[in-house]
Amino acid sequence: MKLPRQFFAPLAIGAPAPMRELPVRLERMIHFVPPHLEKLRAKVPELAGQVDVVLGNLEDAIPVEAKEAARNGFIAMAKAVDYGVTGLWTRINALNSPWALDDVIEIVGAVGDRLDVIMLPKVDGPWDIHYLDQLLAQLEARHKIKNPILIHAILETAQGVNNIEAIASASPRMHGMSLGPADLAASRAMKTTRVGGGHPEYKVLADANGDAPRPAYQQDLWHYTVGRMVDACAASGIKPFYGPFGDFSDAAACEAQFRNAFLMGCLGAWSLHPSQIAIAKKVFSPDPAEVAFAKAIVAAMPDGAGAVMIDGKMQDDATWKQAKVLLDLAKLVAAKDPEMAARYGL
Ligand code: GLV
Ligand code: MG
Repeated sequence: MKLPRQFFAPLAIGAPAPMRELPVRLERMIHFVPPHLEKLRAKVPELAGQVDVVLGNLEDAIPVEAKEAARNGFIAMAKAVDYGVTGLWTRINALNSPWALDDVIEIVGAVGDRLDVIMLPKVDGPWDIHYLDQLLAQLEARHKIKNPILIHAILETAQGVNNIEAIASASPRMHGMSLGPADLAASRAMKTTRVGGGHPEYKVLADANGDAPRPAYQQDLWHYTVGRMVDACAASGIKPFYGPFGDFSDAAACEAQFRNAFLMGCLGAWSLHPSQIAIAKKVFSPDPAEVAFAKAIVAAMPDGAGAVMIDGKMQDDATWKQAKVLLDLAKLVAAKDPEMAARYGL
């Protein structure tokens, strides 16, 4: 076990010190761009003003023959745009692939000072994080990078789910985790053919009542995993995210899946299609009515202690803390979005 004092020591001479706290940033949608496609890359300057995070995807969905073009395209788009407060991430190829090493070496060498986060797919255990952690420290030292590049793990293997707490606390470089429902379904041998979302056959049937029709209630296939992910992330002080929703034709189902994740503690989701940007923005910005109620709680209990009744509902120290979570998030949204600031009255 690494000793506590060594946990925050740089892993290479000349590498920046690991961050003690994560930067406070709004990350409601991580928008995926396939960087080998020049036409889509050309939209990045405009996109950067519309989303919270722009991610250049190098892994799955990028054809094998375009892997290098995607890597070079990401470097070009990282250099071409001033991202301001918008995050710049890349999803590299898996560590066991022929591309991962060059993805990291070339990208950090070329644009390591512009890159906020590397998303690492198919993380099985803390050993994957340790490997990338050490490699990044060596490259940061070599290229004199000032701010540590963070790591975001995709939770998409059964082994990764088994090792979730160890992954979440593997390094101070850990930014957070996203659920990867498509690979996770395959890894678990689930009998589905979807990228996230529910399944009409995953349901509970109401008890029989004579010959009366028996209603069936669809359940959330991802509830268990999102719950584990949220607890592992919260316990380690890192951020949980829902990942992809592949049915672009079903905005309502996407919104419902994102909202379940938001209510359970997630801070954002991936947008794979432009139509999902607005959905994520709506879902992961707190509802103004909830924010108004949170304000009422804080106003009624300025020191956060005791008990009061508001609209017949008991409030105490614990609801005050919940209200603070909503208000802090609303303030973050308001700082970026004047329209939401007005709706929140902030
Ligand atoms: C994402 O990478 C997934 O596999 O769902
Ligand atoms: Mg995947």
